[in-house]
Amino acid sequence: MIAGQLFLTLMLAVASVSANSVSDLVGTWTTKSRKVVTGPGFYDPIHDRFLEPNLTGISYSFTADGHYEEAYYRAIANPQDPSCPKGIMQWQHGTYTTSSDGAMELTPIAVDGRQLLSDPCSSPVGAYTRYNQTEHFKAFKVSVDAYHGVQRLDLNSFDGSPMHPMYLVYRPPQMLPTETLNPITPGKGKRHAKRATEATFSMKNLVSRETVGDPDRWLWVGVFMTAVGGITLFRS
Ligand SMILES: *[C@@H]1O[C@H](CO)[C@@H](O)[C@H](O)[C@H]1NC(C)=O
Ligand SMILES: *[C@@H]1O[C@H](CO)[C@@H](O)[C@H](O)[C@H]1NC(C)=O
Repeated sequence: MIAGQLFLTLMLAVASVSANSVSDLVGTWTTKSRKVVTGPGFYDPIHDRFLEPNLTGISYSFTADGHYEEAYYRAIANPQDPSCPKGIMQWQHGTYTTSSDGAMELTPIAVDGRQLLSDPCSSPVGAYTRYNQTEHFKAFKVSVDAYHGVQRLDLNSFDGSPMHPMYLVYRPPQMLPTETLNPITPGKGKRHAKRATEATFSMKNLVSRETVGDPDRWLWVGVFMTAVGGITLFRS
């Protein structure tokens, strides 16, 4: 009897530990709008360009063997002119490690990351740059969301503040190839200007959507300032 109770207690302890295990991370996760998903639908490495999702959001994918991919599409509020938000798209992939205290470290493949910063109200050409930002999460937790009944991933950023929850959309994950994709330096040559112009033009749609009240509209404003630190401009 006592042995049985002990066994049960042990099983419960194992279950609560496994809520933070790496195997639970495996899959593709996305925020509430579910429109931003890692993989070829977000970043096209052949033409080296972004594909604009219909709504803003964040997505992360993890493999069991230590690879990750992330996709961000966010609006940045413009206090001077609220009808003119800027748009930002970011993509990175690389490797991740977890530590016994539940923290997670993401190390991107530096030459592969991309960012498009678009300010369609003031310029027809966005800033298409390489993006290389190491990320540290203080904690991660996989659970079953009580309301939606689906697997949910909560990440706490480096300072412990919670990020918006993400929900499991694919397991196994939907990702681009995990090896280095773009060993060449983008931004050299004529194709660059064309790509940036096209992508920025497309992001004009963001302005009309944002002003009619996208529910995710303000989610990404706060995190923007930390993200900007990692920008490397090709042409500066
Ligand atoms: C965006 O929405 C439009 C209209 O609902 C749809 O036709 C289009 O396929 C969507 N695009 C993406 C990338 O989901
Ligand atoms: C990428 O970022 C890391 C960490 O900040 C840095 O050590 C590395 O030199 C960067 N690589 C490139 C190519 O910018």
